[in-house]
Amino acid sequence: KQHEIAVIGGDGVGPEVTEAALAVLEATGAPFNFTHYQAGDGTLEATGVALPQETLDGAMKSEAVLFGAAGACAAQVILRLRAELKAWANLRPSKAYQGVPCLRPETDMMIVRENSEGMYFGGEDEPEPGKATATRIITDHASYRIARCAFEFAIQAGYGKVTAVHKVNVLKKTDTVFLEACRRAAKEFPQVAYEEALVDSVAMRMVLKPEDFQVIVTTNLFGDILSDLAAGLIGGLGMCPSANLGDGPALFEPVHGTAPDIAGQGKANPTAAILCAAMLLRHLGYTDKADAVEAAVAACLAQGQTTGDLGGPLGTMGMAQAVIERLGE
Ligand code: NAI
Ligand code: MG
Repeated sequence: KQHEIAVIGGDGVGPEVTEAALAVLEATGAPFNFTHYQAGDGTLEATGVALPQETLDGAMKSEAVLFGAAGACAAQVILRLRAELKAWANLRPSKAYQGVPCLRPETDMMIVRENSEGMYFGGEDEPEPGKATATRIITDHASYRIARCAFEFAIQAGYGKVTAVHKVNVLKKTDTVFLEACRRAAKEFPQVAYEEALVDSVAMRMVLKPEDFQVIVTTNLFGDILSDLAAGLIGGLGMCPSANLGDGPALFEPVHGTAPDIAGQGKANPTAAILCAAMLLRHLGYTDKADAVEAAVAACLAQGQTTGDLGGPLGTMGMAQAVIERLGE
């Protein structure tokens, strides 16, 4: 069977790194049919809308979406896509690779971030000048769903521990709802260790001792901040893929943006986009191919077969080619 994959390159280096990821996907021989769609600043200029209905329809009827990056309109495009695809889970792995200069080579963790509620969806208000409020919505339904997702991921990926990250000493009501849901989920997965930790102390421990963490499950705002912190530990956003999963097609996107300073020069680092391709393969059940892509990326990084930002001699497609050459090893 052919899997229908919607490809949205977007702006800047988005299409460049996406092309590299597609080359690797094609080389794996997975039975994918790619259809390209437009979105982003360029599309907004040309058509008056950043995310055309045709792109949305294409994404909705696909099995998975591969997204590059969008420019100034990124928030509109990606937030709308996540909402339409009902992608309530944001999975952000941070794994240090040998050969990549980084702060904490021991880092190997997955942050599972709730993507549908929390601080970013409750709305803000300004009841009087100089006074503004933000509402944080936490439900048992969404908390239990994301906690189960974290445990299921831990088992599938061979991680032994899930840490629920919260601030229940201050956010007593909302984080009690969150933690009670996490505890209920934890009982269903007795083979995985479960712990709870306060978000501020987690931030410190992630810097000092990242090996304490395997899978982190947390609410929207904390997950947003901690996942960038984790990216900083492993050598920056250029290394980080992410997956948005939920009730509709899954969407995979590098964490970085359009890198306007290097766009159009063929020198963007495709690592994050290629690791997105590996996550997509794994999501659709092609575990061996996903493993092969990740191993090939690791080999390239270890051997210095990388782009200039990591000190290597290759361009974007050159690195894709180097990954492809190592696929069978
Ligand atoms: P950025 O991630 O585009 O760039 C930050 C720095 O990292 C730049 O120096 C850039 O050259 C470098 N960089 C990023 N990706 C790289 C790669 N693959 N290879 C080598 N170097 C890379 O973030 P910035 O500058 O804050 O945002 C630029 C534009 O991207 C803005 O318009 C922003 O709205 C958009 N953006 C889009 C995102 C998305 O589509 N998901 C996420 C973040 C930003
Ligand atoms: Mg963020």
